[in-house]
Amino acid sequence: MKKTKLVVGNWKMNGLLDDSKQRISQTLSFIKKHKKEMLDNVDVIICPPATLLSTVHEMTSKHLLFLGGQDCHTNMAGAFTGDISAEMLKEHGCSSVIVGHSERRFYHNESDELIAKKGEAVHKAGMTAIICVGETAKERAAGLAKKVVKAQIMNSMPNDTLYADNTVIAYEPIWAIGSGQTATQANIEEMHNFIREVLEKKYPALAETQILYGGSVQGTNAAQIFKYQNVGGVLVGGASLKPPEFCKIIEAALKA
Ligand code: 13P
Repeated sequence: MKKTKLVVGNWKMNGLLDDSKQRISQTLSFIKKHKKEMLDNVDVIICPPATLLSTVHEMTSKHLLFLGGQDCHTNMAGAFTGDISAEMLKEHGCSSVIVGHSERRFYHNESDELIAKKGEAVHKAGMTAIICVGETAKERAAGLAKKVVKAQIMNSMPNDTLYADNTVIAYEPIWAIGSGQTATQANIEEMHNFIREVLEKKYPALAETQILYGGSVQGTNAAQIFKYQNVGGVLVGGASLKPPEFCKIIEAALKA
């Protein structure tokens, strides 16, 4: 597993200019203070709504705080009203893009095939794709969690993944997202070890890539989560909107 731990904050559809600037400057002051320890050890990526990218980029471009998009279109340009392309995100300072988040899969009916194409667009634009997978509570109860996650990985991987290592997997069990119900150590380790096996077998280029956990990660449980096997980082929703909480998570990554 790569040494660098990843802490990714997904703001989802939250943030207006003023509160976002405050949020970023609070997070930045922590990051500036810990600059030396962070180098080579922890990468922090914030994925704000697209409307905030240029402002956040201006504030963060000289610091160890990276930017990511929350989604992108499969095409680089064209008649796709309301959509945003990977190149546009790149131009606004993004180095990675989340694709296939369960909220996109659910509210926008995104299929594995579409997500694979989005991942390809992210790679084509020169960025890292953060591909999200995860089962519903119902699927887990039916004993299908691994089967569902394996199928999502196999079908939503960009087609250049066989030789490119710019893909990260985020395991986010849907029942743990925004519910305050974090997955247990057993749940997380079992799935992360399983995902690692799948990657090693099917995508050797990704054998070492970080596998992120997402779902009710907080300042209080992050240190514990980082100790689990094959957890290379976290994808944080709600807590990424609260700088003191988010900084505790970064601190946990620094100590991991
Ligand atoms: P929460 O951290 O709010 O559970 O959200 C997780 C998530 O969906 C991050 O992408």
